[in-house]
Amino acid sequence: MTTTEWSVEAGTRVIAEHAGVRGPLLPVLHALQEEFGYVDPAAVPLVAKELNLSRADVHGVVTFYKDFRTTPPGARTVAVCRGEACQSRGGHELAEHAQARLGVRFGGTTPDGGTTLDQVFCLGMCALSPAVMVDGRAIGRVDVARFDEVVDA
Ligand code: FES
Repeated sequence: MTTTEWSVEAGTRVIAEHAGVRGPLLPVLHALQEEFGYVDPAAVPLVAKELNLSRADVHGVVTFYKDFRTTPPGARTVAVCRGEACQSRGGHELAEHAQARLGVRFGGTTPDGGTTLDQVFCLGMCALSPAVMVDGRAIGRVDVARFDEVVDA
């Protein structure tokens, strides 16, 4: 996934582009995360000012939703599906293995900055569960051994 490096100027541009929609806070935050890969804490006062909200309000939303990341993601993002179909076909074991294998909990990034581990709740390929997504590419029928192959590739 290609993202733009965070800067106040680029952040201000993204905020302004999305501030005009109805109920703009979540769209603005999603746009920031889409553009930069995370919501930089320095964006919080910029968003608050543009949307006439308190910093506490914006910060509260950023930290409430687990989808928002406040630190840059790793070079690669691996997301394990935690949806029902995947859970019923080895997904729980896969989730535990993924965290142990990479040495981070969901939402974390390996110390070398190489991989961020995320969880998602259905990738739309339940028939091929359990599934993972690597940098936006969905992969089905991923057991523990296949996960290691994918991570090592
Ligand atoms: S529940 Fe995992 S792909 Fe649907």
